[in-house]
This record gives sequence, C-alpha cells and structure tokens, in this order.
Amino acid sequence: MAARIEKVVTSGTFELDGGSWGVENNVWIIGDDEECIVLDPGHELMPILDGLAERALLAIVCTHAHNDHIDVAAELSRATGAPIWVHPAEQPLWEMTYPDRVPDAELAHGQVFEVGGVELTVLHTPGHSPGACCLHAPELGALFSGDTLFNGGPGATGRSFSDFGTIIDSITSQLLVLPEGTVVHTGHGDDTTIGAEKPHRQRWVDEHED
Ligand SMILES: [Fe+2]
Repeated sequence: MAARIEKVVTSGTFELDGGSWGVENNVWIIGDDEECIVLDPGHELMPILDGLAERALLAIVCTHAHNDHIDVAAELSRATGAPIWVHPAEQPLWEMTYPDRVPDAELAHGQVFEVGGVELTVLHTPGHSPGACCLHAPELGALFSGDTLFNGGPGATGRSFSDFGTIIDSITSQLLVLPEGTVVHTGHGDDTTIGAEKPHRQRWVDEHED
C-alpha cells in the first residue's frame, strides 16, 4: 500500500508574548497501513490517535515549537512510545510549553525520515521561529511547511523569536526552488502549491511593514 497524506484539524489557542488567539491547526499524518509519522500534534489528542488507528507511529515531528503545534506531543509520545523530534534552536519556545520535558531527538537540515516507502527530507527554514523546519516528500509531490509558507504568503514574523528577512531568505532559497507542482500542506488553513505562491514573492517584500 502506497504512502498517503491525511489531515486532522484540531482547535485551541496560540499563546505568545502575553496574548492568546483562537486557532485551528492542521495535524498531518504521513504513512501507509503499517506505519506513519505525525507532524505538529496540537490541541487535541483523541482525533490524532483516531487518525493513527492501529499503525505504528515512528516519529512525532514538530515543524516548530509554538504551543499550538506541540501541546499534545508529550501525551502522544506517552500513548504511543514515539520519540519527539524538534530542531534545537526551538528550545526557548519549547520550554514555554514543556519546562520539565525535553524533546527526544534533534531535527537537522538534510535529515531524512523514511515512512511507508517514501522519504521526508528536513529543510531548516528559520524566520517564523529560529528552528522552524519544513519536510519535503518528493515522491508524494508534497511539502509540509508548518508556519513558514501559507496559502497567500509567508508565516507571521511580528512576535518574539521571528524575523521577516530571515523567513523570506528561507522561502526564497529553499522552498521556491522546489518543483512548481509541489503541493504545500500548511500548518493552518488551505493547501497551496509552490507555483501558486512563487510569483508573489516580491509583493510580500514590498508590502511588508515592520
Ligand atoms: Fe507558529
């Protein structure tokens, strides 16, 4: 059975810099009938466990450590035994949600996960946060972009640990160079493609206000 991509949408709040915002998050499950990987388990454990069904969970990968992408990661790890992977530059953000629980393993640029017969390559794409990462699955024609690239432009860079110039550099050098047909599965909201976003890069820069 070929690998497939499933989305679970969960609801909760994003909290940073003393603010709190209601958000829906896309939790991605990638794998086949035997095994899978979960990206960004936020807000609600049960719908994610339902999505796994009886499959082996190989890894819990967090594209970054904002609370809405990680806040059921520890529960999911306890329930399944799967290790949590986070880029080490996310440690200051991680500690805001988990002061007493460190991640199990460190994501690194170029690292490859294998699941269900396909490869997922880690791209370190800082800007939305220092250790933000995307996962590229060329055999699936898919990019999992976390909060780095959305349908409509770059992720937010207005709060702590973010930087607009850095996210533009990451998107330009690592994401817009991917095949234009690559489907971008985002951390919030609808999918897009590299080809749909690429023509708008200069406008994002021109319209940005610090
Ligand atoms: Fe985020």
